[in-house]
Amino acid sequence: DKGEYRHYMLKEIHEQPRVIKATMEGRVTASRVLEQALGTEAGDLLKDVRHVQIIACGTSYHAGMVARYWIEDLADIPCSVEVASEFRYRKHVIQQDTLFLCISQSGETADTLAALRQAKKAGFRAALAICNVPGSSLVRESDLVIMTQAGPEIGVASTKAFTTQLVALLIFTLALARKNGLSEERETEIVQALHLVPGQVNDVLALEGEIAEISKRFMDKNHSLFLGRGSQFPVAMEGALKLKEISYIHAEAYPAGELKHGPLALVDSEMPVITVAPNNSMAEKLKSNLEEVRARGGELFVFADSSANIKPEENIHVVQLPEVHEITAPIVYTVPLQLLSYHVAVLKGTDVDQPRNLAKSVTVE
Ligand code: M6R
Repeated sequence: DKGEYRHYMLKEIHEQPRVIKATMEGRVTASRVLEQALGTEAGDLLKDVRHVQIIACGTSYHAGMVARYWIEDLADIPCSVEVASEFRYRKHVIQQDTLFLCISQSGETADTLAALRQAKKAGFRAALAICNVPGSSLVRESDLVIMTQAGPEIGVASTKAFTTQLVALLIFTLALARKNGLSEERETEIVQALHLVPGQVNDVLALEGEIAEISKRFMDKNHSLFLGRGSQFPVAMEGALKLKEISYIHAEAYPAGELKHGPLALVDSEMPVITVAPNNSMAEKLKSNLEEVRARGGELFVFADSSANIKPEENIHVVQLPEVHEITAPIVYTVPLQLLSYHVAVLKGTDVDQPRNLAKSVTVE
């Protein structure tokens, strides 16, 4: 039931503060991660992990890409991420003590399941699943499972499943990192930051009117470019995927540093450029990328916090987000991009919950 909402997608976007909290429930205290809550075997399984191989498709793949930044940063363990449809059809080199991690909202995605079955035959150390559907094939076939508590997701465009996947992945990363030298202070700092996320997402939801206003600028556009750096690059990819899926506007995501290596040639007044730029260590570099776009007459849409100090000017629209911890920023910065694509789609009159040519669960190749 959509209740007061016009579409399931909008309802699901607004459920995020609650389901993010639910995904943390019982798995973290005020300051630490409860390893036991990940399963009684979690301690043993995570102990000697030397490499993590993440496999997923679509939005779940983007969650995996964010997790790679976290795992290498916090756990000091190399991590590879690949889309399942590529992984399953090539020969791969298995590094010692590799944890195989599948991410899937439905737990029924054909390519992801095929990759898992192959990995088990090939002798990976153990298979961990992050999934939203209890009893799904993925859950049944994995050694360790972290369920996201998003509740049923009806909109084809994944929203709350993605942000809860990120929460589960961050909790997993902290459990893994603890075995590999992460200090108690750093763990506490991040867990405390995680507790702030539901409130911060609420603050972003309160910006919906402002974002709806901005979405009008996209009505007559055929193309768009999304930029981000570091762990915000996958957030940009996810933002671009949402816009393509439901508004049918061609959207491409680039790491901002790649601009000069090609896509800058596309930038003119017909090419809106969307950037996610929290005030992290990359903000200064991102600002010079923004200048490059502006100098070519591009219209910029910047999602940043006030301390990033990016001022609105002609052709620069700035949406000010709450200040967030660098590690949890990808979760919070996803939400305004969901709202943007939703409002563009509504204005364009597309079938938001059931976009053309797409299915909720891709159970065939
Ligand atoms: O159920 P899964 O997470 O395995 O699904 C993977 C993709 O099919 C899915 O994320 C798809 O990209 C969504 N429609 C994105 O909004």
